[in-house]
Amino acid sequence: MEKQEQFTPQHTADGSYTFYSTEFGESFHSQFGAKQEAELKFVEPLNLRQRAQHSPLFLLDICYGLGYNSAAALTAIWETNPDCQVELMALELDETVPKSSIAHHVLESYPAEIVEILAQLATTHSFQSDRLNAKLLLGDARTTLQQVQSSGFKADAVFLDPFSPPVCPQLWTVEFLSLVAQCLKPDGNLATYSCSATVRSALLAAGLTIGSTSPVGRRTPGTIAGFSSAALPSLSTSELEHLQTRAAVPYRDLSLNDNAESIIQRRQQEQQSSTLEPTSQWKKRTLPMLDENSIN
Ligand SMILES: C[S@@+](CC[C@H](N)C(=O)[O-])C[C@H]1O[C@@H](n2cnc3c(N)ncnc32)[C@H](O)[C@@H]1O
Repeated sequence: MEKQEQFTPQHTADGSYTFYSTEFGESFHSQFGAKQEAELKFVEPLNLRQRAQHSPLFLLDICYGLGYNSAAALTAIWETNPDCQVELMALELDETVPKSSIAHHVLESYPAEIVEILAQLATTHSFQSDRLNAKLLLGDARTTLQQVQSSGFKADAVFLDPFSPPVCPQLWTVEFLSLVAQCLKPDGNLATYSCSATVRSALLAAGLTIGSTSPVGRRTPGTIAGFSSAALPSLSTSELEHLQTRAAVPYRDLSLNDNAESIIQRRQQEQQSSTLEPTSQWKKRTLPMLDENSIN
């Protein structure tokens, strides 16, 4: 049996499909909807329709996975400006994920042209046309992103979409996010679905300013980051306070090659010796005033 057959499409609430990773013990998307997540956590907060007015656009898709974020981005950009030139750099560890996505027709609700592009990207790891230059770099993003950085690639928009910090801390460390920041244009933005304090403090330590992307339905907010705070939606008081608690101790990976366990242990030790308020104490103190969504 080929490895790609291990992924079985799972239905999400908006009718789109995701996969479940037995390796990481997590779904690739929230149960509210894979397609909606790409739109509401990435395409909209990054203002891709507005950015599409200015060609060329440089996109960095970290953790390409099934390809939803790239599919949603290309669809939105070309619906707005069919002449927009796009440079897409996509990073993914496991090539069987994009291949399974194509084999199971997961992206079929996007325009046929986009599905064909991403099918070629999954197979040959590159695609070139008069309006798109796309590359899929396979391997640990901590290594492939160093190649991207040394090539001088600077993104207008970054999709940061790893599995959650407790299961994939490698891609949420200060060091990795500093590398991401080096691949961002001065007026570029990064978006992620995560609103966790550890992720937000790592983004701040990487030299970025942060804002909150709006929660939709029962969803938690995500985070948008960039070098300038202009136009970033500000954090609520409770979100700011959360960043003053031990939950905000960031993950560290000094040489960008530690395993998940060491990165988690290092953070736990730092939390134990931290002078920051324990998060549980802060929650007790402020819980009646808190929006439940902001305390993850
Ligand atoms: C939450 S899923 C991403 C979903 C994806 N953005 C989409 O639209 O379908 C996380 C992805 O990160 C990949 N991944 C895990 N560890 C990685 C690493 N160290 N470097 C690059 N990719 C990694 C997984 O194989 C998985 O495809």
